[in-house]
Amino acid sequence: MLAVVALALSVAIFATWAILDRLIDDRIDAEFGNEAEKLRRYAATAVDARDVDTLLADYLSYNPPDEWETFFTIVDGRPHKVTGVPPPARLDTDDALVARLGRATEPVSGETESAAGTVRYAVIPVEVTGDARRGQLVIAVFYDHYRDEVLDAMRVLALASLASLVLAGAAGWFVAGRVLTPVRLVRQTAERISDSSDLTRRLDVPGDDDVSALAGTFNRMLDRLEQAFAVQRDFVDDAGHELRTPITVIRGHLELMGDDPDDRAETLALVTDELDRMNRMVDDLLTLAKAEQPGFLDVEVVELADLTVSVVAKARALGERRWRVDEVAEARVLADRQRLTQALMQLAANAVRHTAADGRITVGSAVQDGAVRLWVRDDGPGVPIADRERIFRRFVRAGGRTGAHEGAGLGLAIVRSIAEAHGGVVAVEDAPGGGARFVITIPMREVR
Ligand SMILES: Nc1ncnc2c1ncn2[C@@H]1O[C@H](COP(=O)(O)OP(=O)(O)OP(=O)(O)O)[C@@H](O)[C@H]1O
Ligand SMILES: [Mg+2]
Repeated sequence: MLAVVALALSVAIFATWAILDRLIDDRIDAEFGNEAEKLRRYAATAVDARDVDTLLADYLSYNPPDEWETFFTIVDGRPHKVTGVPPPARLDTDDALVARLGRATEPVSGETESAAGTVRYAVIPVEVTGDARRGQLVIAVFYDHYRDEVLDAMRVLALASLASLVLAGAAGWFVAGRVLTPVRLVRQTAERISDSSDLTRRLDVPGDDDVSALAGTFNRMLDRLEQAFAVQRDFVDDAGHELRTPITVIRGHLELMGDDPDDRAETLALVTDELDRMNRMVDDLLTLAKAEQPGFLDVEVVELADLTVSVVAKARALGERRWRVDEVAEARVLADRQRLTQALMQLAANAVRHTAADGRITVGSAVQDGAVRLWVRDDGPGVPIADRERIFRRFVRAGGRTGAHEGAGLGLAIVRSIAEAHGGVVAVEDAPGGGARFVITIPMREVR
């Protein structure tokens, strides 16, 4: 960054230098033109000048040179007169130069070296009628003096630029350091957290600037990560714990198994039953794990009436009950048909488990207040108010253990995951006339 600024400044300084140099040249050329014009006008009025040396001598006394300028005249190739003001260096004493300039018959200009540096000169030849001699007026400008002035100015400019560059660099460094310190702190803390895998640590950046806002965002991300990891850890703990029970049961049966064929057959049946249960549990756990990930739902157009009726048809296989369809919504919505069927089948399986052989189970659907409601109602014992929240958690079974046919407590957790994946909820309430009514409510995403 500083290098770019330095480069730009150097370019600007060199450009200024070049422009000023050109200006000096232009000014000197204008001065030459001006002097020639003055001489011409003087010659036109000096009617009493009979010869070249009078004319030139008169002109010199009449027209003094500017500062850092000198005039002298040449007559017949020899130095003639020098202007009264003493110049920084004498040029008329340079014989070779005088001889060369004395030959000029046309106005010429050029450059030569002198004791006071480079000099730019112009030679204006003069002739007077009736005088055979040739004279020249030489106008010399001490060019180096002007160039030195420009150089001085450039030197000051360069020094000033360098000083501001250094100052700007130092200020930039200081400001960057102040801005970057908290950023570095954030980075170091973040590194410490990832090194120690300690998700309970948080960044502490006081203030209300962007960096502390960044730290706040980072902390909130850590909150969510910590929570997500905790949920995952609980999940794995629960799953491991629950899977240990059937494994223990299986091992117990196998260890106690005798040689009696009947005994073996009975053990085999028990073990197979237990393995089936494990298998179902693993499937359910996988479903729950998938529900946490994107892409869990496969959304399509679902005919609610069709869905309701087909669930009842499938559910009949779960048990001999009085299966009924309550009410059917005539609507087409966007949803995952498979997952909704799965949820309703879980509710139907629960209903079968909690009703007697002549029990009545009713399935229904309705569209109400911009939401789709799907329900399964039974005439069993219902769910006590105290249990209505917690039964939806995984591995929670209410009403105590009921022996070998007890479930894993994953069914309602799956139903809730499916409802939530659709942006909805599931709840249980008292069914009119006793029993439980489980209702899935999801926002309506209608298709016309
Ligand atoms: N229709 C219902 N009537 C009364 N209680 C119910 C009903 N459905 C569920 N419950 C209660 O909620 C608990 C949790 O049900 P959930 O479906 O989650 O587990 P589960 O049926 O015991 O096991 P799984 O479904 O994994 O085989 C049940 O143990 C039961 O006590
Ligand atoms: Mg269940």
